[in-house]
Order: sequence, then structure tokens, then C-alpha cells
Amino acid sequence: MSKKKFSTFGNVFDDSTLRILFKLSSQGYFDEMLSPVLIGKEANVFTASKGKGKVIVKIYRTQACDFNKMYDYLAPDPRFPKLKKNRREIIVTWARKEYRNLLIARKAGINVPTPYAVNGNVLVMEMIGKDEPAKRLKDRLPEDIELFYESFIKDVRKLYKEAKLIHADLSEYNVLILDDKPYIIDFSHAISMKYPRFVDFLERDLKIMTKFFNRKGLNLEYEKVLKYVTDGTEDK
Ligand SMILES: Nc1ncnc2c1ncn2[C@@H]1O[C@H](COP(=O)(O)OP(=O)(O)OP(=O)(O)O)[C@@H](O)[C@H]1O
Ligand SMILES: [Mg+2]
Repeated sequence: MSKKKFSTFGNVFDDSTLRILFKLSSQGYFDEMLSPVLIGKEANVFTASKGKGKVIVKIYRTQACDFNKMYDYLAPDPRFPKLKKNRREIIVTWARKEYRNLLIARKAGINVPTPYAVNGNVLVMEMIGKDEPAKRLKDRLPEDIELFYESFIKDVRKLYKEAKLIHADLSEYNVLILDDKPYIIDFSHAISMKYPRFVDFLERDLKIMTKFFNRKGLNLEYEKVLKYVTDGTEDK
């Protein structure tokens, strides 16, 4: 694997990111960067080849991102004490946080991508999808939306009750659909239940998703959804 293979991405990544990509690929996490899935405000997401399959390489932008906002988000999190308000450190912590959150969610048996490695501002994880990344719920509706919702809300409940995490950026943009099943992604914002006012984040997530599913034909009552997720009654 030569550094040349990354040269086409040279205008996208700074030197330190290129070095990290080179290192991760020489450690065998992926072979070659393939194509961008989404060039976002905070992260650039690429597919990369690995043997006959593909993985996802998520690269947090060290320049264009709103690191003040990220700092405000991270600072009250007891998992990251002594955080300095330094651009690079914030981004690296942000990437580590997503990696950790994915591991915790995975262990609780929730449908999320398995994280493989994190180094600096780069996270390598399982690609949800067959040959290509799966579509987002925003762009593809399930055939059986009720069944889909049931399995989605079970995962949100597991996330809360077992993993003790709140996604905090839940929307139809961060749910992928594969074989009519939900996969929750984008865990960089996710917070633990030790975070101040974590209930506000949970309520916001649930309101957004309840509205979305109701727009698509379900007839959910927000209060019941909240109760299901937090109390564990079987009534959805
Ligand atoms: N593991 C994955 N498998 C398939 N597609 C993925 C995966 N992770 C991300 N994607 C695709 O890339 C897009 C952007 O990813 P993601 O939501 O994690 O980044 P983002 O919204 O830029 O993140 P952030 O809010 O941290 O800046 C997703 O909407 C999805 O289409
Ligand atoms: Mg996202």
C-alpha cells in the first residue's frame, strides 16, 4: 500500500490525516479508499475496500467543523475529564467517543455498525449494506413500517436501559435500512446517563422519531413511546 494511493484525496485531507489513513491501512483495517458516501460539515464518510468486502472510514474534519459546539457537548461528559479546549484534542476525543459508544451499543445487542479501529480523527467501522452502503430511512421506507418501528424502538429502549446511552442526534438521517431492518448510526453525539439533563436529549430524540413515524402513517402517542423506552412496559 503506497502513500500514492491517497494522493487523489490530498486536497481533502491534511497531512496528519493522510498519515493516519496510511497507518490504518498498513495495519490491515482496509486496503484502499474507494468513494465518498457523504461529505458533511463535521465528517467525511468514505467506503474503503477490505479483501472482497467494504468498510466505512469516517474522517472527522479538523478544520471546517464547529469545534466550539463540540467542546460544549463534551465538557459536561464525566467520561472525558481534563479535556482541553484545543481543536485537535476535541476532534480526537469526538472520534474516540463515537468508537466507544458504538462498542457499548454493540455489546448491548443493538443493531449498529461494529467499530474496528479509531486513530486520531479517523474511525473505521463495519459498512451496513451489501455491495453499497444501505439507504437512510429518510430516502427509503420499509415495506412493513410497523414491524420496522417495533424493532427500532426496541433498540432505542435497549440503548437507554441496557447500554445507558442516549443517542442525542436521532432522526431519519441517522437510521439506515437494510433488509427492512433498522440500523442506528452516527453515535458521536451520544451521551451517557451521567450527563446533565440527559432526559432532555432523550425526549428530543423520541419526539423527532415519533413525528417522523406518524408522518409515515403510524399513530403513535409520544407519552406512550417515552414510557415504553424508560419504564419498560410492553405497551408501545
Ligand atoms: N456504517 C455505515 N454503513 C453504511 N453507511 C454509513 C455508515 N456510517 C455512515 N454511513 C453513511 O454516511 C452518512 C454520514 O455518516 P454519519 O451520519 O455518521 O456522519 P455525519 O452525519 O456527518 O456525522 P456527524 O453528525 O458526526 O458529523 C450517513 O448518513 C450514511 O449514509
Ligand atoms: Mg449523520
